[in-house]
Amino acid sequence: MSQVSPDGQELVQRYTLTVRIIHWAVALAYVLLFLSGFALFHPYFYWLTDLFGGGTMARVLHPFIGVALATLFLIYSAGIWRDNLLLPSDREWLRQAPKIMNKTIEFPVEGKYNAGQKLLFWVMLALVVGLLLTGLPIWRPYVAPSFGAPARRVFALLHAALGFGMFAAIGVHIYAAYWTRGSISAMVRGYVTRRWARFHYPGWSRAHARPDEKPGSGKQSA
Ligand code: HEM
Repeated sequence: MSQVSPDGQELVQRYTLTVRIIHWAVALAYVLLFLSGFALFHPYFYWLTDLFGGGTMARVLHPFIGVALATLFLIYSAGIWRDNLLLPSDREWLRQAPKIMNKTIEFPVEGKYNAGQKLLFWVMLALVVGLLLTGLPIWRPYVAPSFGAPARRVFALLHAALGFGMFAAIGVHIYAAYWTRGSISAMVRGYVTRRWARFHYPGWSRAHARPDEKPGSGKQSA
């Protein structure tokens, strides 16, 4: 039996409770990393360390939160990477992206995510792995002593550059989530209306149709 919203619309599950908890835990870790990372990046932002109980605590906590984010994001990715594989129609989506974003044309998305979301997923994954691999060698007092000072300087530089990349990628992600009305509520409540699913992700909506709505069943709901 499918769920129905208070105003009588059919609901389709987009995210399970576990997926939503992991996603929002990643988001919280990201905010904490962003604030503590900025605090450590330049003395101008040092005042941000007050949020973590001072400079020493910010420096101690930042890498632990980073490892937590990377672990959670890798668990999250294990569940969704298949939905992010590019389909032939995604290449066309990318070619038409400016028109789609300007809402000059409508493009029927084939999978659970559009090609823009898919590309961003792979960029986020690369950035998270890159931040982990460049963060570990500069983690004092645990890992850093195994590396020489010149190597540590290079890793620190790369880590900061990847941090800026992550800041930009998450900025695009939040903007896109806000831009697609109904998607934040999907990640909060787990459900979307059938109408929303058909409009934004018609292929995914069809794949999650009730058995009596599947093509060939002889019945199609409005
Ligand atoms: C901090 C605020 C954040 C907000 C408001 C937010 C919002 C959302 C929303 C609304 C969706 C569902 C999109 C849909 O179903 O179409 C989503 C999915 C997703 N989020 Fe976030 N998110 C945030 C942080 C993050 C962070 C920090 C990461 C990773 C480092 C992340 C990675 C993802 C991924 C991979 C998906 C699935 C694919 C996609 O929709 O792009 N999110 N997010």
